[in-house]
Amino acid sequence: MWEYTEKVKDHFFNPRNVGEIENADGVGEVGSLACGDALRLMFKLDKNGKITDAKFKTFGCASAIATSSVLTEMIKGMTLDEAAKVTNRDIADYLGGLPEQKMHCSVMGREALEAAIENYQSGGKKKHQLEGNVVCTCFGVTDKEIERVIRENNLTTVEQVTNYCKAGGGCGGCKGEIEKIIQRVQGDKIKQVPVPAPRRGGQLTNIQKIQLIQQTINEQIRPPLRADGGDIELVDVEGNKVVVAFRGMCAQCKLANVTMKDVVEAKLREFVSKDLYVEEIKDSS
Ligand code: FES
Repeated sequence: MWEYTEKVKDHFFNPRNVGEIENADGVGEVGSLACGDALRLMFKLDKNGKITDAKFKTFGCASAIATSSVLTEMIKGMTLDEAAKVTNRDIADYLGGLPEQKMHCSVMGREALEAAIENYQSGGKKKHQLEGNVVCTCFGVTDKEIERVIRENNLTTVEQVTNYCKAGGGCGGCKGEIEKIIQRVQGDKIKQVPVPAPRRGGQLTNIQKIQLIQQTINEQIRPPLRADGGDIELVDVEGNKVVVAFRGMCAQCKLANVTMKDVVEAKLREFVSKDLYVEEIKDSS
């Protein structure tokens, strides 16, 4: 069960501005019924170029209804320049927050608003078009949209990207590509995690050793495994024994033993200590 704010509940149970505007100045349509969420947003301008009316129709969950409803309230009275600056964060904040797993509804609202503005600026001719190359075919999400949600919301994991734009939430086949986009956009930030300094004489304390093992897994081992649909988790460190569990494709892979020796153990020996050896645990989850 999701935890919703009172404001989300209010806009869900009493949605404002549902319906159509006759001769709307701008109309934006995003999402699709096949993907579970769709939104049609319309606005009318007054003679001063301010949004005087806004209405919506949506197909989706409670959050989709609440975000659409609140968005129509937010933009009334704004000029198009002001409306164009509304971010998905603004929409979520206006509602007092959304569950992380529902942030994609705020992104859909922002996309619909942009599409409606574009539609107005093109004299009613332009329909919303996807920019960039489709990365997630399950939900029709492009690399440009993924890059944008990562940048605007400072996302660092595939799971977060799925929460914000649904990419990766279906068959999972695009997760490796999403991981690469995160690395490309946030690479420097992710790599800025400080390497624990070795103790004098080159010896690591236990805590330093565990931190360095985790860091090596995150930066050196996990990205290529995720690119192939797998993953790895650090389970325990006992002396020089490092216990790991493979996930996803790696868990079923007949070459897991080879991966463990040639990739996992080799990297840990290179970056942490040549005395380490790795064992896989199958049933920890
Ligand atoms: S291609 Fe992205 S979840 Fe299936």
